Amino acid sequence: MGAESYFQKLVDDLAAVRSTVVAGDPRATERQRSLGKLTVRERIDLLLDKDSFHEIGSFRRHRSVGFGIENKRPHTDGVVTGWGRVYGRKVFVYAHDFRIFGGSLGEAHAEKIQKIMDLAYEAGAPVVGLNDGAGARIQEGVGALAGYGGIFSRNVRASGVIPQISVILGPCAGGAAYSPALTDFVFMVRGIAQMFVTGPDVVRAVTGEEITQEELGGADTHSSVSGVAHFAYDNEHACLTDVRYLLSLLPSNNRELPPHLPTDDPPDRPCTRISSIVPPDPAKPYDVRDVIADIVDEGDFFEVHEAWAPNIVCALARLDGHVVGVVANQPTHLAGVLDIHASEKAARFVQFCDAFNIPLVTLVDVPGFMPGTAQEHGGIIRHGAKLLYSYCNATVPRVQVVMRKSYGGAHIVMDSLSIGSDISLAWPTNEIAVMGAEGAANVVFRKEIAAAEDPDAVRARKIAQYREELMHPHYAAERGFVDELIDPAHTRAALISALAALRGKHAERPDRKHGNQPT
Ligand code: HXC
Repeated sequence: MGAESYFQKLVDDLAAVRSTVVAGDPRATERQRSLGKLTVRERIDLLLDKDSFHEIGSFRRHRSVGFGIENKRPHTDGVVTGWGRVYGRKVFVYAHDFRIFGGSLGEAHAEKIQKIMDLAYEAGAPVVGLNDGAGARIQEGVGALAGYGGIFSRNVRASGVIPQISVILGPCAGGAAYSPALTDFVFMVRGIAQMFVTGPDVVRAVTGEEITQEELGGADTHSSVSGVAHFAYDNEHACLTDVRYLLSLLPSNNRELPPHLPTDDPPDRPCTRISSIVPPDPAKPYDVRDVIADIVDEGDFFEVHEAWAPNIVCALARLDGHVVGVVANQPTHLAGVLDIHASEKAARFVQFCDAFNIPLVTLVDVPGFMPGTAQEHGGIIRHGAKLLYSYCNATVPRVQVVMRKSYGGAHIVMDSLSIGSDISLAWPTNEIAVMGAEGAANVVFRKEIAAAEDPDAVRARKIAQYREELMHPHYAAERGFVDELIDPAHTRAALISALAALRGKHAERPDRKHGNQPT
């Protein structure tokens, strides 16, 4: 055999092995489909630009012995790893293959994931994990557990350096769930994805409670009750389409700005709908998402944690083509009050935006912090402090817009000038005060009202006086606590102008290892 044909034979052998690796075991594939799940490479194809995936480690096999595992050494070791492109930009990927050892993680499997994480970190590109695995591979014992440790430490090293996205498309149980929890965003698909530290069997044994996997840790549970997941979808296609969209809004790493997308939406377009959306009476609700849509490019925004803590809205959007993070109180839910979950949700979003050079726009219409024993005993003080801490720590451009009421500590926390916002704008409907007029009059003039012949008349007069003197829409601007009063219709233009002025902002922070953020 000549050198050329020998070479060809080796290449043909390689192709033959690779085609069986790519195809996988037909029976396992059938089972995967019967569970309503796509196969690992179908998922990667949906995530990445066409034909852009480059796999590495496809020939990797474990070297473990015991429990007969030495007789079963499939290629890939149950995880497909490599890189590709999303809208032309580089992304690193790892994806469990549930058809092999239930996607469970052994030493070789873990090393493949760790290598991809190392490459992504060093190349400065996002890493996306498609999770569909049974957790630590039982036959590999502590080696499997240590594999997770190596992944967790890499998650933390990469935190705030490259975007990390976890997509849950199958089981994600036990300690395995902590890797997604350390990443920036968790996507889940209803019916096929479940995350829990202990499954229904253990729950039943320990607490006697009967609960299904889906109720305990399904997509709806985690996206609306626990807040573990940021997004929930009915199918994998919709889910992976949104992962692509999210990536299109993010910089590849913390040294870059998010991608700019030229828009036909004029920067000075008046916000014509705001005046009909927002009732002048501060007690009347409206959907703040309609306001956001009227302000941002093409009315398009991507809401994070839509179903969890809906009393605050966190969304990524574009203004004149530049990505911004929008934080807005939502009057349709609990009157837009700040509670434990809203504080945690917005704190993490602000922290993410700051880490990845995404300017912050804060739309304020807040009655205060939620009163009550449940909130106080649940630790609203330390949870509210998280939001305060995140804003105070943020060095990205920050613009506040006070739309209507903005009372008490909540006014300060919602990115006021006093905690470091760069520009504060307010509509003429603003009511910035320590508290609402009725409450304030009752506290300050309690004795005077009680002693009056006609207490109701005195109370009404005091309320009117308080409104006129301390809640007048010019009050904060006259004293420099607001930089400018604007026509609500000019909000888009004013924000675009302010953010353009702030582009290139550089703020130093003290030299320290890290702050001691409230947890
Ligand atoms: C090795 C495993 C496995 C595991 C499942 N398999 N779990 N192999 N280690 N942990 C294998 C099964 O033997 C089977 O192999 C194949 O994967 C598919 O599993 P099934 O049970 O048939 O599938 P299904 O009925 O769909 O159930 C999936 C499952 C269940 C819900 C994930 O398998 C399960 O509960 N597994 C155990 C999960 C677990 O407790 N993991 C440890 C978590 S603790 P064959 O050859 O028959 O196809 C953890 C610690 C992390 O992860 C610590 C970090 C510090």
